[in-house]
Amino acid sequence: MSTSIDSALSETRSFPVPAHFASQANMDAETFARLNRQATEDPDGFWGDLARQHLDWDVPFQRVLEVDQAPFYRWFGGGQLNVAYNCVDRHLRGATRHKAALIWEGEDGSVRTVTYAQLHREMSLFANALKHQGVQKGDRVAIYMPMVPEAIIAMLACARIGAIHTVVFGGFSAEALKDRLEDTDAKVLITADGAWRAGKMVPLKRHADQALLREHEHSVRHVIVLRRTGADIDMQEGRDIWWEDAVADVNADCPALSMQAEDTLFILYTSGSTGKPKGVFHSSAGYLLWTMLTTRWVFDIKPEDVYWCTADIGWITGHSYVVYGPLANGATVFLYEGAPMHPQPDRFWKMIARHGISILYTAPTAVRAFMKMGDEWPQRHDLSSLRLLGSVGEPMNPEAWMWYYKQIGGGRCPVADTWWQTETGGHMIAPLPGVTANRPGSCALPLPGISARIVNDQGAPITAPNAGGYLVIDRPWPGMLRGVWGNPERYVESYWARFDNRYYIAGDSARRDADGYFWVMGRIDDVLNVSGHRLGTAEVESALVAHPAVSEAAIVGIPHEIKGEAICAFVVLKHQHQGDDRDELGAALRAQVTELIGAIARPDDIRFTDALPKTRSGKIMRRLLRSIARGEEVTQDMSTLEDEGTLQNLGTVKR
Ligand code: WT7
Repeated sequence: MSTSIDSALSETRSFPVPAHFASQANMDAETFARLNRQATEDPDGFWGDLARQHLDWDVPFQRVLEVDQAPFYRWFGGGQLNVAYNCVDRHLRGATRHKAALIWEGEDGSVRTVTYAQLHREMSLFANALKHQGVQKGDRVAIYMPMVPEAIIAMLACARIGAIHTVVFGGFSAEALKDRLEDTDAKVLITADGAWRAGKMVPLKRHADQALLREHEHSVRHVIVLRRTGADIDMQEGRDIWWEDAVADVNADCPALSMQAEDTLFILYTSGSTGKPKGVFHSSAGYLLWTMLTTRWVFDIKPEDVYWCTADIGWITGHSYVVYGPLANGATVFLYEGAPMHPQPDRFWKMIARHGISILYTAPTAVRAFMKMGDEWPQRHDLSSLRLLGSVGEPMNPEAWMWYYKQIGGGRCPVADTWWQTETGGHMIAPLPGVTANRPGSCALPLPGISARIVNDQGAPITAPNAGGYLVIDRPWPGMLRGVWGNPERYVESYWARFDNRYYIAGDSARRDADGYFWVMGRIDDVLNVSGHRLGTAEVESALVAHPAVSEAAIVGIPHEIKGEAICAFVVLKHQHQGDDRDELGAALRAQVTELIGAIARPDDIRFTDALPKTRSGKIMRRLLRSIARGEEVTQDMSTLEDEGTLQNLGTVKR
């Protein structure tokens, strides 16, 4: 049996940096080389310089990195700053003051703009309202809101007074909310009467009431409710207060509290694609620095951009790249509250044209869904304002990448395939649009300051090109998680223990090609073992998606007498191919995988389905598919599953 994970699919297409891009980029090849050199030779100097240059400190830090309690690393010791100050107040000087910080569009097409000056006022009012409700430094505040400006105002208000926010995605159930309220001991919950989604009202406040039903099981004393849909809701006397009333009798003067660099900014639960969600927490200064820098470097953000990251603020992508990173840069952030395909599959493209959006950051699951609907939808709109595209969340299948690049980017926009995690705080491995050529399906090179490696089961470095193994980070970085809330053992156990605390273990498998480009092969837990060959999920899935009839695919292993494991593939077809003959298609897909990868990766079982089970953040849940493929009862934690209906349908999928 091989000790490394076998790479099967080789993708050789490459797209150089467009000349017009390189000449104006925030990061050029020379700076990139210089920063990489400094990061290796003098890491403290590297990080210290950046932190002084890009952040406004109340008290300068004395130490850059402290390692004495590793893997509990501490950054910028002795330094003090306020994150909300860095995201808002410092832009009030000069022309940014009246620049749009947020441009919001509701599902019904209504638009609201919030300037930096307005954001400052709203945030300050609400911060005072929180204090009025008894919130103090270090208290946890839960935010269970739709994608409206107030959700961001609430996050910043917490940061302003040193409260630790924990945002719970508005699509989560009462049960999931309850778990998170209990785990964090939140004192205040901020919610709305409801949210709009695909023309329907989502009863947020009703879910909140359910979550709070058993008073002795949580610590929530006050609930602040934003009026959003006008739904008829119950307000509990003494506990619940309307947002508008909470801010009515407070003033707009709320000084930003000076926080220690290491004070916790927020707690956020992981997506749970492979297990029970963990409450990851992040620091103030290090996290802010890393989200700010990566937004600048990877998205090449400029004052004149209209930037749209389609993630909900309930995910780390929303925290880092809707709120903290772009606002720290003084950018204009576009927000959309609503369903992506509502009322029609061209909603995204319509909004890009309407608002002149120049940077679009979305997920492979969305790209595949649009690809499934057909090319005519983007073609109806003028997408020429776009200059950069980004992707995050899963490996990008090269064919989906090509579609995104051509149909959305017009072959003109670099694509930033960004590899990172809730735990890493910000991008780790990503192409720099003015420096790095794109290879479809690869997240390219580690960013300056990030030291990524591939190691085998024993933790020994794998240096041979294209041999796959564990993706690890062997030096701390400021944006890294500081722990798992209330559970330091789980932090060490989940991320460090396996290789004696030497590396941060991401839990992904990856390989590096001969030019050093990283290719993520899937989650380590999802690796298959077929006749002694260890296969990641990404490459076989990409070989399936390369067929013109397929928009999405997931593979899992099923026990096999001779091979150990055989491949079972779940395949979703593009709309115009849904009537195709399934037997012929199955044969064609087997032949295609054999041709692109080899007989070893040929699926024994192909099941066509309308949809794949996903987390609410859009990740395929292969562990559920594995149970289904094996005919086992599904007993795993399903609290993060997007749509239980998908599972029912999969139970009766056609062979
Ligand atoms: C996991 C982290 C990071 C914000 C959104 C997800 C997968 C993420 C990529 C990418 C291949 C990717 C990894 C990672 N992933 N981005 N560009 N290429 N895989 O955050 O929910 O914490 O998930 O998402 O498996 O470990 P998350």
